[in-house]
Amino acid sequence: MKQKLEQILAAAQAELESCGDLKVMEELRIKFLGKKGELTSILKQMGGLSPEERPVIGGLANKVRAEIEQKISEKTEKLRADAAAKKMAAEALDVTLPGKAPEPGRLHPLTAVLEEVKEIFLGMGFDVVDGPEVETDHYCFEALNMPKHHPARDTQDTFYINDNVVLRTQTSSVQIRTMETRKPPIRIISPGRVYRSDTVDATHSPLFHQIEGLVIDKGVTLGDLYGTLELLMKKLYGDQAKIRLRPHHFPYTEPSAEVDLVCFNCGGKGCSMCKGDGYVELLGAGMVHPKVLEECGIDPDVYSGFAFGIGLERITMGRYNINDMRLLYENDMRFLGQF
Ligand code: DAH
Repeated sequence: MKQKLEQILAAAQAELESCGDLKVMEELRIKFLGKKGELTSILKQMGGLSPEERPVIGGLANKVRAEIEQKISEKTEKLRADAAAKKMAAEALDVTLPGKAPEPGRLHPLTAVLEEVKEIFLGMGFDVVDGPEVETDHYCFEALNMPKHHPARDTQDTFYINDNVVLRTQTSSVQIRTMETRKPPIRIISPGRVYRSDTVDATHSPLFHQIEGLVIDKGVTLGDLYGTLELLMKKLYGDQAKIRLRPHHFPYTEPSAEVDLVCFNCGGKGCSMCKGDGYVELLGAGMVHPKVLEECGIDPDVYSGFAFGIGLERITMGRYNINDMRLLYENDMRFLGQF
């Protein structure tokens, strides 16, 4: 029996040593120490031993059991530790990898320039007002002294919802809505989207932005228009900025003018940017037509005023030297990241 016990111990140690799996460990524990295990079956035969042999074999059996138990617990511990180490290695976080820096957002150049323009006008006591982009023919054209079939409509072909409702071609519609609802003195700007059925190219888009301006009070003159716009341009382009008013025609102003800026590239000498002219065209403006005032219930004998409409894209392109309008709409981060 002594020999048998030693064999069991040797076998158990060898098998446990080579075991690499916790599940197999449990099977081995049952095999050697379980109720139907090898050690138990030896102990069951103890009854047949002499009284002298019994304590000797009993002691040896206990020792064998203790050693196997010890081996199992050591090996289990080791397998658990190995498994944990393997898992840790698999989930390891490499803190030496360079991180992905979150890119801070920033304003689109059109938004940035619009915010600047708003600040400038708020500083001069103007309100910022809003108007609908889907507009009636009345506010977009008729009330601005552009009846149906007026040739001035030709340059502003638009998208028709029906015969009477259009996507507005100009923010000038907000002039009328403002004069109908406010009493002079009026000082407002109204920025917003406008639409024209134009084909996309470097200087055209079917959707673009304008900033309308309107001032109505007693004794407002063309000099006020000039001073207001020159101040705007100096604030936007620097103190050297100079403008000129060039006679033009708009049905809703009299007199009307186009406002040009002395070319910021050549200072007026003439270059490729201004096509040799020394000036770049910026916006339309004029003194509000008496007929328009009258239609809105404002007495043209008492009040006068000026109005203007600025293309936001144009002043933004001038500001940042952008030569293609499409860049402003493509949302290409390589372009936008430069501002
Ligand atoms: N509405 C004009 C356009 O879209 C710009 C304009 C010209 C606005 C003269 C005005 C103005 O208020 O008085 O081209």
